[in-house]
Amino acid sequence: MTGFRTLDQADVANKRVLLRVDLNVPMEGVRVSDATRIERVAPTITEIADRGGKVILLSHLGRPKGPDPKDSLRPVAAAVSAIVGRPVGFADDCIGPKAEAAVSAMRPGDILCLENTRFHKGEEKNDPTFVDALAKLGDLWVNDAFSAAHRAHASTEGLGHVLPAYAGRTMQAELDALSKALEAPQRPVVAIVGGAKISTKLDLLGNLMSKVNALVIGGAMANTFLAAQGKAVGKSLYEHDLLGTAKETLAKAASRQCEIVLPVDAVAAKKFEANAPSRVVSVDAVGGDEMILDIGPRSIEHVVSVLARAKTLVWNGPFGAFEMEPFDTGTVEVAEAAAELTAAGKLVSVAGGGDTVAALNAAGASERFSYVSTAGGAFLEWLEGKALPGVEVLRVK
Ligand code: 3PG
Ligand code: MG
Repeated sequence: MTGFRTLDQADVANKRVLLRVDLNVPMEGVRVSDATRIERVAPTITEIADRGGKVILLSHLGRPKGPDPKDSLRPVAAAVSAIVGRPVGFADDCIGPKAEAAVSAMRPGDILCLENTRFHKGEEKNDPTFVDALAKLGDLWVNDAFSAAHRAHASTEGLGHVLPAYAGRTMQAELDALSKALEAPQRPVVAIVGGAKISTKLDLLGNLMSKVNALVIGGAMANTFLAAQGKAVGKSLYEHDLLGTAKETLAKAASRQCEIVLPVDAVAAKKFEANAPSRVVSVDAVGGDEMILDIGPRSIEHVVSVLARAKTLVWNGPFGAFEMEPFDTGTVEVAEAAAELTAAGKLVSVAGGGDTVAALNAAGASERFSYVSTAGGAFLEWLEGKALPGVEVLRVK
């Protein structure tokens, strides 16, 4: 990887390493219900410890307005310990006397987790006084939290200006994968963009259509495009006030020679619920009392044929109402096809964004994808072509 300092350039032995990780994991009470983000950063933690560094974990959890026991990182630190298979100490504050005492007691190879950075207002404000209070605890800063890199907070960005800064192994893998997907991809590149609303994905569509050869539109978003083409979409979810925008988007894509792939048939039902009676219908023949809940078999076949011609895939957002069976079929079958092409060495596939990961996991396809990002908002901002503060600060100037 060029342009970024990584752990390869860092001398961590006997150093206090402030390691920003994203321990913002889903919790059920004090139980971590999905440990994927912890598993991803575990190799960085153990590498620094094995090289004799003192590993000091920094993270936020939730969106607390101040200290709040329900957003304590203590139970998460225990989960980290279980995953890395080593003791992980905990300090009740991320700055001040408690943190300082815990850090000064560390020996090379030790791992310590500090309390939620968002318990201090200075974190989100990127307040220099808070940055300095954190910086006092470390000799260098390693950022391994791509999923929080769209935030210019003290622990995700501010520290990079006052301490020697390096990308951790997960950040490195993420940047590598993302660059292979959009910055220097093998062509043709296809993007699949799903989800409910065009309104939240306009910047993303605009950026993608200047970079990819084909843009496959799925989810309720596709309904707005179909309606903009004058099709009757019945009771389907769509954005009435965005028909003009959808038309402009289609025209813009045509002028950039980006092929837009919309559904040609749909699975339609009269009720929005799992296993509601449904039928396969052409997108020209949706009944006035029906709603589109998934793409149909001809659409699946079409998308799979587009993937078969592609060398690179970027995927954000599911096709249908994937959380309800059987309306997950479109997402599951396209995911399976992408996973197979990837496993056969024919496709580089990168996916990310909240629902996407859940959908690909449910489809059993994630493992075979080239890279599945655990980032939500950061992945979206990257797809929009925005600079991420937590990444920019790592660039070699
Ligand atoms: C995430 O879960 O997307 C990141 O941890 C960022 O969290 P935030 O949206 O609360 O800043
Ligand atoms: Mg919470």
